[in-house]
Amino acid sequence: MRIPTLVAALIALVAFATMATARYAVYLDDGHRNLPPPGMMTGVTHIINAFASSSHFLAAPFGTAFPISHADVFRRMVPAGAKVCLAIGGWGDTDGFGQGCATQWYRNSYAQKLAQTLNELDYDCVDIDWEFPGGNGPDYKTIPNQSKEFEIECYPLFLRAIKDAIGDKLELSIAVPGREQNMMAYTAETGPVLDSIVDAVHVMTYDLMNRRDNCTKHTQSLVGVTEAIELYISRGFHPSKLNLGYVFYASWFTLQNATACVTPTGCRTELLEYPNGTDTLRSGAVTFEFEHYQPLIIPSNLTISVDGRCGSGTFARCNATECCSQYGSCGSTYEYCGTGCQNGYGMNCTDTGPTINEKFVQAMKNGEYDANEGAHYYIDHQESLFWSWDTEEDIQKKYDAVVKNLTLGGVFVWSLGEDTDYFKHLRAVQAAVLSDAPQGYGPYHNTTVA
Ligand SMILES: *[C@@H]1O[C@H](CO)[C@@H](O)[C@H](O)[C@H]1NC(C)=O
Ligand SMILES: *[C@@H]1O[C@H](CO)[C@@H](O)[C@H](O)[C@H]1NC(C)=O
Ligand SMILES: *[C@@H]1O[C@H](CO)[C@@H](O)[C@H](O)[C@H]1NC(C)=O
Ligand SMILES: *[C@@H]1O[C@H](CO)[C@@H](O)[C@H](O)[C@H]1NC(C)=O
Ligand SMILES: *[C@@H]1O[C@H](CO)[C@@H](O)[C@H](O)[C@H]1NC(C)=O
Ligand SMILES: *[C@@H]1O[C@H](CO)[C@@H](O)[C@H](O)[C@H]1NC(C)=O
Ligand SMILES: *[C@@H]1O[C@H](CO)[C@@H](O)[C@H](O)[C@H]1NC(C)=O
Ligand SMILES: *[C@@H]1O[C@H](CO)[C@@H](O)[C@H](O)[C@H]1NC(C)=O
Ligand SMILES: *[C@@H]1O[C@H](CO)[C@@H](O)[C@H](O)[C@H]1NC(C)=O
Repeated sequence: MRIPTLVAALIALVAFATMATARYAVYLDDGHRNLPPPGMMTGVTHIINAFASSSHFLAAPFGTAFPISHADVFRRMVPAGAKVCLAIGGWGDTDGFGQGCATQWYRNSYAQKLAQTLNELDYDCVDIDWEFPGGNGPDYKTIPNQSKEFEIECYPLFLRAIKDAIGDKLELSIAVPGREQNMMAYTAETGPVLDSIVDAVHVMTYDLMNRRDNCTKHTQSLVGVTEAIELYISRGFHPSKLNLGYVFYASWFTLQNATACVTPTGCRTELLEYPNGTDTLRSGAVTFEFEHYQPLIIPSNLTISVDGRCGSGTFARCNATECCSQYGSCGSTYEYCGTGCQNGYGMNCTDTGPTINEKFVQAMKNGEYDANEGAHYYIDHQESLFWSWDTEEDIQKKYDAVVKNLTLGGVFVWSLGEDTDYFKHLRAVQAAVLSDAPQGYGPYHNTTVA
């Protein structure tokens, strides 16, 4: 009896070991909380509530107390066994990190308060989304990088303090830039140190072109994404720690001279960011949400906005001298009346042509493939726009060529609620993950949205 039992146990152990599940993390951001239908969560290993403020965990009197939902709210959305994580920070929220990192006293008190919060609210993991240690945030022209150099040195100490405080039972992940320009804190010296501290690294393998460029390139080509991942590996990160990131939006950029633009890369754009670092709003993104594929229907019961908010979803319009911007606020400059302006929700847009969503639909319909770079794109000569995005095929190709081939730990998606057009992209990610690890994590078990 003894031997056969042992053999059976060994066989079971081997079977279990080979059933390793690829990490499949999904962010749920507070602006997009539409969940996919039952079944679409199969395979998910981490759901990440985004974002808590970076200042939240600073010791009084600096901390601000935005409520953070209990992990149970998210736990019932995902398969049993999946981990629930809290993401902190995000684009433009770096002040709390800079402060919390600065001295040993701050690092320890930040880490203690964070650990306490995670335990109280029953989280299994925390994701530090600092964009970026060392600078290059939205304020980089007013607060230059030089004044943030200390962050590059204290960043590993900050993460060490957090990992020590949360212990081995809880996971620590970091979200890191895909653009090399922003990798100031991820060098050949710091890489191995950071790698030894964290459990997972979410590489933001997208937005590889952004408003700080003046020539077009793909935002997330297979070639660009592979280079970004290889850069992290060359700087000391184990492939098994790395997660490749997929985004559920298409990016657009205004071309300076569309007539001259015959290849997807290297076309001059208009000025996309002012010298003072603010967005000229001549670039942007459209998410894969259902309504973005639909004709715009303007409600007949609009009232004049009293709080400056307007547009789709508000039943409010701007007054006769102001336009409603793509971001749903009233104003009279190009930022409001130009590209993305919501006609019918205030003063007529300067650009009386198609809406940005109509242009998006055109791009999705007429997309071309750049086989050299491995990317979908569309040059809209009529509207002078360059578009860049991932199709379902691109998602699978990246999975095979990067995640599998470079033996990465897994993938993440930003974000769950941005793909409501039949969850096509989410479905593609799920198919890729499950083709790799078919047993997943069992069935989705509760469809109730909190
Ligand atoms: C940001 O800082 C790094 C050095 O810390 C520097 O190499 C980089 O060029 C800076 N970026 C900008 C836009 O100034
Ligand atoms: C375009 O960007 C490159 C690299 O950032 C820079 O060297 C160049 O001066 C820019 N050109 C113009 C015309 O702004
Ligand atoms: C735009 O490009 C076309 C084709 O290269 C060229 O003929 C035209 O002069 C350019 N227009 C401007 C305003 O630069
Ligand atoms: C930045 O520069 C633009 C263009 O000159 C200007 O319209 C805007 O008000 C400036 N923003 C800030 C915050 O200074
Ligand atoms: C406008 O009508 C819609 C239904 O069509 C309704 O849901 C909404 O509350 C109304 N808004 C106002 C401000 O009356
Ligand atoms: C429209 O609103 C803006 C901002 O509140 C105000 O300055 C402007 O005078 C208003 N115009 C009209 C015609 O009411
Ligand atoms: C604004 O647009 C509407 C509908 O397209 C049009 O009927 C109206 O004449 C325009 N108003 C102005 C001042 O151009
Ligand atoms: C996998 O990587 C190798 C070496 O980098 C490369 O030659 C091969 O083409 C890759 N396979 C895929 C499917 O991308
Ligand atoms: C699903 O979640 C809701 C909301 O918390 C709860 O009332 C319900 O009992 C749950 N259903 C199952 C099957 O767990």
